[in-house]
This record gives sequence, C-alpha cells and structure tokens, in this order.
Amino acid sequence: MKKVVHVVGARPNFMKAAPVLRALDRLPIGQSLVHTGQHYDAQMSEVFFRQLGLPEPDYNLAVGSDSHARQTGLAMQKLEPVLAEARPDLVLVYGDVNSTLAASLVCAKLVIPLGHVEAGLRSFDRSMPEEVNRVVTDRLSDLLFTPSADADENLRAEGVKDSCIHRVGNVMIDSLVRLLPGTEERSIWHDYALVTLHRPSNVDDPEVLGRLAGALTEMSRVIPVVFPVHPRTRARLEAVSGVCRAENLCLLPPAGYVEFLELQAHARFVVTDSGGIQEESTYLGIPCLTLRENTERPITVEVGSNVLVGQDMGRLLHEVARILSGSARRGSVPPLWDGHAAERIALVVGQRLGLASELELRTAKSGLPGKANYRSRTVRPPGPWPAQRARGARGPVKRVRSEVS
Ligand code: UD1
Repeated sequence: MKKVVHVVGARPNFMKAAPVLRALDRLPIGQSLVHTGQHYDAQMSEVFFRQLGLPEPDYNLAVGSDSHARQTGLAMQKLEPVLAEARPDLVLVYGDVNSTLAASLVCAKLVIPLGHVEAGLRSFDRSMPEEVNRVVTDRLSDLLFTPSADADENLRAEGVKDSCIHRVGNVMIDSLVRLLPGTEERSIWHDYALVTLHRPSNVDDPEVLGRLAGALTEMSRVIPVVFPVHPRTRARLEAVSGVCRAENLCLLPPAGYVEFLELQAHARFVVTDSGGIQEESTYLGIPCLTLRENTERPITVEVGSNVLVGQDMGRLLHEVARILSGSARRGSVPPLWDGHAAERIALVVGQRLGLASELELRTAKSGLPGKANYRSRTVRPPGPWPAQRARGARGPVKRVRSEVS
C-alpha cells in the first residue's frame, strides 16, 4: 500500500493539514502524521487538533522552542530516522514554518518525493525567516500546490516547471468553511477591533512594540480592542504593559481555532501581522490592517480589503477612522478559495501515486468546481455575521476590561 506522511509542527500548519488528511482518506493509502512539537502548549497545539478533528500524531518529536538553527536542526535529526524507516511514497509539508523547512531538507537528503501545500508565496523579504523557509521548501518540492495565480508566477520566475505547479486554491479556507457555521449562533461580542501580533519585527524590539502598544491603546478609545496574545508576544509585552493598559483593551490568552474564527467573523476589523489572518479576513469580508511593510499574500490587497500599514501608527489610526466612517474598500474572495482545495490536492496525489485511473480522475473532476466556476465572488460588506443580521441582533458592546493574561 502506498504511504503518505504529513509533517506539521506549528499552529498555522494544523488548519491546512486537517482538510488534506480528510480528503486523502478517500484514497486507498496509508497516512501517518508527524508533529515536530515546535508548538507544544495546549492552546497552541492540542486545542487545534481537537477542534479540527486531526488524529493523534503517530510521532511527536518534541522539538520545542530554540534558535532557528537549533530548532530546525533538532527537527531534522529527529525526523530523519522516522522517514528513513517509514519510506513513504510522498511527504506533505505545509506553509512556511521551521518544521516545514526541516522536513523538506530531510526528504531531499533521503530522496523522498515532497509536496508543498501553500507553495509559491513570496514576500521578497529575506529578512523574514518564513521567506527563507518558503524559498527552500519550494526549491526542494516535487509537487507544488499553490493558492493563487501570483504564486504560480513566482514559481515560474524561479524556473519551476509548469508540470510541477498545481493551483488548487487555499486549503486554509477549507477548514474555515467547514467550521464557521458552528460559530454563527454563539454568544459573542460586537463592534470591536481584533488584534494579533507575533512577528519578531514587531514584537522583539521594545521600542517598536512600545509604539504599537501605544497605538492600540489610542485605538481602544474609539473602539474596544480584543487581543489574544501569542506566547512570544506575552513576555515582551509585559515589559511595556504600562502602555498597553486601557479601559477598553482586553488581553486574552491565545484563542483556539474555533474561538478565533468566531472572534474574527464578528469583528468590525482586524489588525494583524499574521499571514493566515490576512487570508481568513479576506474570505470573511472583514477589513484587515496589516502591520507589515510587505506581504507574501498580495492577492489579499489586490482583491480584498487588506491594507498594509507597516509600522506607521499614524496610517493605522487613519485607516481605522476610514473603516469606522464606512469608507473602507470592499473586497472579494479570490478564485478557488471555496472549501474544496484539499479535494483538488487529493486528485493530484492520487494521480501521482498511480491510484486514480484517467476515468476516475475525469469523474472526480466533474464533481468539483471547474475552471468555469473559478471566478471571484463579491463578499458581504463588513458587519455582523448573516445569522446575527437576520435576527436584527446587534447586541450591546460587551464592556471589556484591561487585564494582562
Ligand atoms: C512560528 C512561525 C511563524 C508562525 C507562528 C505562528 C517559524 C520561523 N515561525 O513563530 O511563521 O506565524 O509560529 O504562531 O517557524 N512558545 C510557547 N509555546 C508554544 C510555542 C512557542 O510558549 O507552544 C514561545 C516560546 O517562548 C518560543 C516562542 O514562543 O520561543 C516562539 O515560538 P517559535 O515556534 O520559535 O516561533 P513563533 O514566533 O511561534
């Protein structure tokens, strides 16, 4: 029996791997899941496994936190014997974290075919650790599953053959589409700004973080701010927490997948430096202000309502005012961000492993959204989720207190 091994390690991997494991279940193959343990806190890992319906990992390498070289090196050391023994027909890696890079390098050395889910994204900023991970992983991959046309173009410009590039759409949106309905009816806050912050460029320098915290405090004077804090940010924020204490600024522990989806779907807008949240907010039609100078997801700026504000706090507050006055740009959902990306991946994997006859492939393809349907669709305007709107519910803003978690 053919074998596929999935390697995950950090929070943003889990919602990408879950739909692919589920879609590959329809093929007559053996699947194993390796967790490197890059993220290990229950709120950063276990809760995601549970909510996304991921199986218990077959291996947990317990790599933990360290410098980039040590973390990547340890993941490689621990992964090598696992893959050498399993000898899978294909390894699938996700996104751009250090665990993705580690698995790619091990596969290259063991000459195991590699598939990269979320290939081709480029910020063209090599000072970003994730950009290095993306470039190297793509270079070593045999199957490159891209979310959008710009990713295909980036790969072609780097000399990747067309036959290796498979535009399947955005697999993270598959998880969102599946789990969003359960969040609609839950009791929620309304009319708040949702903030996340964890990039080293924003949180590691106390001066930069201090300015950001100051801007968030100022923002909280016009709209309540809800801020689930990443562990990396928590320690650094405590040093500048004097600036980040305000009546309407609520610091929370990291949120689970479903809770964060709920927070996002009901927010007035999001302020973030995350890559995935730029995409999720694009799908949800929630305006996104991104605290970065560049993005590897330019499509969210082109077709969506994402605006790059960098570290310009004047610009941030200006864009907040535009959103609150109703003059922010409306976005649309990019083609193939439709909840079926993992099925398209399964089709390619089946073909690669010689499991799908041409006829089966044609039949399966006809059941999926075809090229004719690959159009952008306009999304609803920012505001409460439809279920809330239908009921006319616009509950009172829950008063949020400042508390350092
Ligand atoms: C990593 C990814 C980043 C991704 C982010 C999502 C890399 C290079 N970076 O960044 O692309 O956007 O995950 O969260 O892979 N920590 C805990 N508990 C945990 C995990 C981490 O407390 O479960 C703390 C540790 O102090 C650690 C720090 O967070 O040193 C950073 O963790 P690490 O995995 O190195 O990078 P992230 O900043 O999480």
